[in-house]
Amino acid sequence: MQTLENSPEHTLEQILPAAQAAFSACSTINDLEQAKARFLGKSGVLTEQLKGLGKLSAEARPAAGAAINVVKQGVEEALKQRRDAILQAEQEKQLASESLDVTLPARARGEGGLHPVTLTLQRIEQLFHSIGFEVAEGPEIETDFYNFTALNIPDDHPARAMHDTFYIDEQHVLRTHTSPVQVHYMQEALKNNSGPPLKIIAPGRVYRVDSDATHSPMFHQVEGLWVDENISFANLKGVVQDFLQRFFERDDLQVRFRPSFFPFTEPSAEMDMSWNGGWLEIGGCGMVHPEVFGHVGIDSEKYRGFAFGLGVERLAMLRYGVNDLRLFFNNDLRFLKQFN
Ligand code: FA5
Repeated sequence: MQTLENSPEHTLEQILPAAQAAFSACSTINDLEQAKARFLGKSGVLTEQLKGLGKLSAEARPAAGAAINVVKQGVEEALKQRRDAILQAEQEKQLASESLDVTLPARARGEGGLHPVTLTLQRIEQLFHSIGFEVAEGPEIETDFYNFTALNIPDDHPARAMHDTFYIDEQHVLRTHTSPVQVHYMQEALKNNSGPPLKIIAPGRVYRVDSDATHSPMFHQVEGLWVDENISFANLKGVVQDFLQRFFERDDLQVRFRPSFFPFTEPSAEMDMSWNGGWLEIGGCGMVHPEVFGHVGIDSEKYRGFAFGLGVERLAMLRYGVNDLRLFFNNDLRFLKQFN
């Protein structure tokens, strides 16, 4: 145990300067607490001094006690001053670390832009709107009936196969094309007595098990449908060709209509545009099949219609000169920034 005799601060006079020096040497509250214990703790030097009073005579005790108390107060005062100083220094340090340098240059605000596919969709909608087409929408999760059956797609058609289509369950699929919107729209129009005539486009996402430079598992189509009494294939060709010339701003545009087959149109054609020295298929089209009119309850003796489905990414590729469709969905800002 530390006694007055063996303590380094063995005389009363030496205690205060020793405490002041010890406290000054502390730079944290933790260090200070340890130094405090050496002077004011249970076995600290001042406590030892007080214990020593018992050895003194009754006459000498009051004066010695008073002297010890003066030193004790001095030590406590020195401790308080050092504690305040450390706390203030810590606070200043914290404030300095959190301070704002208002002279630093401002952080640039990141500006967003529209995706090239969105820009393309907007342009398509605007052009069709200018010739009187309304915009319609349909669900992306479709029943087997709307995606296939109502469109006269037979049970054994390859598009119904698991390896071509994303099935949710036996009756629901992620729609493989926008053509089911035709069926929804015609049914609604009949129910509400709002047509025919009907003249719509239906833009939206569609899904297929497909992936290469010109195919993506998720892509966009724009469906077109015009039903009236005297609609012919000539109207179809005129509308689509006019749209494409305006979309690409080229009167000499090379479009090819290639005879084809879709169960929901008759006759049917595929539309191709010249690309990379060859042809790129941009959509399918044809005259609405009487079976489809039958499913929705439109009199096919009285009405005719044409329909088409365009691949939006394909149009965007051709317009912007993009040679790999997957670039649209890689989310590489260096690519996306070029369109804004
Ligand atoms: C259809 O989807 C028909 N529903 C189009 C149609 C509508 C015909 C109305 C008649 C009447 P097709 O499977 O060919 O047709 O697809 C249409 C277009 O979508 C293609 O020409 C192509 O431009 C685009 N397309 C097809 N698959 C993909 C894919 N995986 N990725 C990107 N674009 C695709």
